[in-house]
Amino acid sequence: MLHTLLFWGLPLLFAGLLVWLRRRLASRKPWLRMIGYVVPGYALLGAYQLLSDRLSALEKAGRIDEETVTVLSEPAVLQQGKTIYDTRCVSCHGAQGEGAVGPNLTDDYWIYGGSIRDIFRTIRHGIPNTPMVAWKHSLTDEEQQAVSNYIYRLRGTNPPNSKPPQGFLYVRGK
Ligand code: HEC
Repeated sequence: MLHTLLFWGLPLLFAGLLVWLRRRLASRKPWLRMIGYVVPGYALLGAYQLLSDRLSALEKAGRIDEETVTVLSEPAVLQQGKTIYDTRCVSCHGAQGEGAVGPNLTDDYWIYGGSIRDIFRTIRHGIPNTPMVAWKHSLTDEEQQAVSNYIYRLRGTNPPNSKPPQGFLYVRGK
């Protein structure tokens, strides 16, 4: 929103600057007039670039996506993740993540990768043409992050009746 305002405000600022400079520079020598236009013009462009970068950074901060999702250990987050898992995921992945229609989520083998980003991406976007739907339509970004973290922590729990490994061995970085 602010970004758009800034972008469309730029031509206005340029026009204003031009009018102002024309008045101030009218009686100057031609070479001085030239510099008088070019330098403030560049300064305005530079200021726009700087502001625009800062705004992008601000907009990105606090947003959860597959780039910014992180491993969290707050009990409240994990509890939230468990509640989501228990209501939405158990039917296909088993009460303890042991696997059923969907793969086992407690072992070291992953079809789509076992990093927090991989898990988040799978949950967010789903796997086309499989029963694993994209959850971005029914879970908020925070909820996707919470359930990703809940699953991330199921590793090594080794529940009974575990489904055999599927996918490739994912070695978690220290
Ligand atoms: C209707 C059944 C179904 C439900 C409900 C379901 N899944 Fe899945 N899920 C699957 C299937 C099937 C796959 C494997 C797809 C494939 O083989 O390509 C999968 C794959 C996954 C994977 C990737 C596993 C890997 O090895 O890479 C994750 C993570 C996952 N699901 C998490 C969840 C979470 C979290 C929920 C609840 C919010 C959920 N699933 C709900 C069926 C389901």
